[in-house]
Amino acid sequence: MNKFYITTPIYYVNSVPHIGHAYTTIVADVLARYYRLKLGNENVFFLTGTDEHGAKVGQAAGKAGKTPQEFVDEVSAQFRTAWENLNISNNDFIRTTESRHEKVVNEILLKLKDSKTPKGNDFVYKDIYEGLYCVGCESYKKPEDLIDGKCPDHNIEPEYFKEENWYFRLSDFAEMIREKIENDEIRVLPDERKREVLGFIDQGLENIAISREQVKWGITLPFDDTQTIYVWVDALINYISALGFPDGENFKKFWPANIQLLGKDILKFHCIIWPAILIAAGIELPKDFFVHGYFTIDGKKMSKTIGNVIDSNDLVNEFGVDAARYLIISQFAFGQDGDVRAEEFKVKFNADLANGLGNLVSRVLAMVEKYCEGKVPEKEFNAVIDLKKIRETLDKNYADYKIFENLKEIWNVIAWCDGYVAEKKPWTLAKENKQDELEQVLYNSLEVVRHLAYFVLPILPETGKEILRRLGEENIDYEKAKVVGGLKSGQTIEKGEALFLRK
Ligand code: MSP
Repeated sequence: MNKFYITTPIYYVNSVPHIGHAYTTIVADVLARYYRLKLGNENVFFLTGTDEHGAKVGQAAGKAGKTPQEFVDEVSAQFRTAWENLNISNNDFIRTTESRHEKVVNEILLKLKDSKTPKGNDFVYKDIYEGLYCVGCESYKKPEDLIDGKCPDHNIEPEYFKEENWYFRLSDFAEMIREKIENDEIRVLPDERKREVLGFIDQGLENIAISREQVKWGITLPFDDTQTIYVWVDALINYISALGFPDGENFKKFWPANIQLLGKDILKFHCIIWPAILIAAGIELPKDFFVHGYFTIDGKKMSKTIGNVIDSNDLVNEFGVDAARYLIISQFAFGQDGDVRAEEFKVKFNADLANGLGNLVSRVLAMVEKYCEGKVPEKEFNAVIDLKKIRETLDKNYADYKIFENLKEIWNVIAWCDGYVAEKKPWTLAKENKQDELEQVLYNSLEVVRHLAYFVLPILPETGKEILRRLGEENIDYEKAKVVGGLKSGQTIEKGEALFLRK
């Protein structure tokens, strides 16, 4: 792989950012930062943004007593700020109300209007839609999708619509897309999600309406100005409009996406509708889709109505940026659902960061200052821990998007080093005047700490950099990071303040 393009879904601006959104965004950031270390900054592109059209956003603006444009400008800015506060390193932030996006959407829709399905039919045609629409999902519903007449995801009754719309002949793509997913040409991860999409296809794909007569807050359909473009079709195109499709340098360099991250609720849109649009428009398909689970808080879905939404800004204020990032992504395995107990953030902060990583670094550096005049001892690494193998495991896990497994792997190294120091007791060696042995133990510990700094860099960027600075390694160099025993003897180290203050 010589380039890496990663995307998050673009977030609806009907509500403010919370840790569910932050979760996807931080994971994307960790992967982007990891690949920047590996491939160089210029070869990684990380995109996020906001989804600003449609009935749901239009209604939210009305409720807030604002014009849609005023409203989306405000909420989109809140997403941007939330990501800045979390030190998210996105290369671009796309908004679907930007003209650069609208231009590409128009271009793609005109292309689709002229295109044929794999069965040789017109991809786009006109028909009457009559049925139910859930504004929460921004999607049509069948009676069997509902529980007690309500959308189970949004707990609202869908609205009844009858109008003439433009349609996509999605059904003609069923076999082609099934085959591509089955043979991993479109890789859907984890495996249970791949089975789920295949299941959807087996149930039969219905054609979808791609325009709306009654929704005014949207992009006007280029071939029929009585209609606006369906918000999902508009939104999916962000992944190429941001790259400057079709002639932009970024499009040529970065498309197709290496990985598109998404939550399980938007699987069909990304793994069926999006590939169909791309195939119809003659554009290459993304390589991987990784579908993650849902955050619940104390067993309940996070929602503004229940009032249990956790704002990532609050976590940053309480724990600091790196800690907030860690606390959000360390809750459960990426891909699964997980329940978050708010009171456990503090427990985890103290255990893993203050007492774990922070304490280990302080202890080792303080001993080097005390027993070795603050200089890296003249020794060679000989501890019984296979740092090369650990790095290989981390690399392999990242290739499979196993972020949570990597956190475990890294924290095992911290535990190992804590155990090593406890067993070797440098303070006793000092008392017994065993300086040679003492220096060996501290050299080994410092080298493990240096490796840890590189391991945590994508996850805790500020902490990783700070540890390296204290070790005298100002230049972050991934090649150097790989060399076991690469820590230069004689280098001056700095003990510094506690990295994480116990709460
Ligand atoms: N606008 C669409 C996506 C369009 S992409 C072309 C959308 N927006 S959203 O804001 O509702 O959701 C964005 C992402 O956040 C989705 O992947 C969704 O799964 C994720 N999450 C929203 N709430 C979440 C949790 N409580 N937990 C984990 N992820 C959640 O859908």
